[in-house]
Amino acid sequence: MEQRQLGKGGPMVSVLGFGAWPIGGGMGAVDEATAIATVRAAIDHGITLIDTAQAYRTSEAIIGKALKDGYRARCFLATKVSRDYSREGIRAAIENSLRALQVENVDLYQIHGWNPQYPIEESMETMEQLRQEGKTRFIGVSNFNVEQMQQALKTAWFHSLQPRYNMFDRQIEAEILPFCAQTGIGVLSHSPLAKGLLTGRYTPDHKFPEDDERSRNPRFQGEAFANYLAKAERLKKEIAEPRGLSLVQLAIGWQLRHPAITCVLVGAKNPQQVQEHIGAVGWTLTAEELRRIEEILHE
Ligand SMILES: NC(=O)c1ccc[n+]([C@@H]2O[C@H](COP(=O)([O-])OP(=O)(O)OC[C@H]3O[C@@H](n4cnc5c(N)ncnc54)[C@H](OP(=O)(O)O)[C@@H]3O)[C@@H](O)[C@H]2O)c1
Repeated sequence: MEQRQLGKGGPMVSVLGFGAWPIGGGMGAVDEATAIATVRAAIDHGITLIDTAQAYRTSEAIIGKALKDGYRARCFLATKVSRDYSREGIRAAIENSLRALQVENVDLYQIHGWNPQYPIEESMETMEQLRQEGKTRFIGVSNFNVEQMQQALKTAWFHSLQPRYNMFDRQIEAEILPFCAQTGIGVLSHSPLAKGLLTGRYTPDHKFPEDDERSRNPRFQGEAFANYLAKAERLKKEIAEPRGLSLVQLAIGWQLRHPAITCVLVGAKNPQQVQEHIGAVGWTLTAEELRRIEEILHE
């Protein structure tokens, strides 16, 4: 699997990352044996980066089980502190995460989001101390804008940003991606399949179960849902299929055209989905295909 460097002076990571939110049950229940098999399938296919978080329900505990039998040594393990970014909150969170993951340290520890309630100086200072203590090898942030990254950088260097990015969510292209490229911050993109809008799996009448976050997301209801699915269908028929790709593979591979993207974090619920993701790597889109994609997305 192709690898890219995660930020200036950072480690090499696979361009596909395993997003571990769905195996925690956030997008509908996944049984534990299947969840463990899914994490292991990802690593067996050459995906090295595993991304989870304090807030991903049972995800960290499942990963802890999946990483036994030598799997821990084969992956770059990333998690996040999710709610309380005070010194005490971050310290308590990493201890809980290490316990759930059954590891001595993680490779990347990230601040899940910006929260003005907690001074960023204190949060970043604590993150840097955890790095120096060896609890994490690298630190990162998630869902920060340029100004917030600039503020965080005044206290400590971090190697990565984790923003939302997919064909339907391109806000980061204007300022955030150029800033990261210029500054040497690696980018782990999240929600690359727009949580299922870019898979070709759903029809507008689909109803998501209550335990699936999509049941409460307006994008997955009514006219908005139908419009997204119509665009996705065109991308599939007009771009993906003529290339012998699935829509899922097109949506993931399209991200890798951008040199600022280090790794695309894709969620999966079973080993078959992971297998399909692997086909998103190893090809490039032509200028004409990229132009057609823009046309479909903007029509
Ligand atoms: N930092 C943040 O704030 C933040 C926010 C969101 C996500 N993330 C990270 O980014 C990762 C990826 O985002 P995500 O998991 O939320 O959404 P996603 O990757 O856009 O979509 C994942 C969902 O798409 C469907 N899918 C995946 N592969 C498929 C395939 N081959 N064929 C058909 N359907 C397929 C699955 O759901 P169904 O089969 O049920 O449709 C899966 O749960 C997360 O797991 C997490 O690590 C971070």
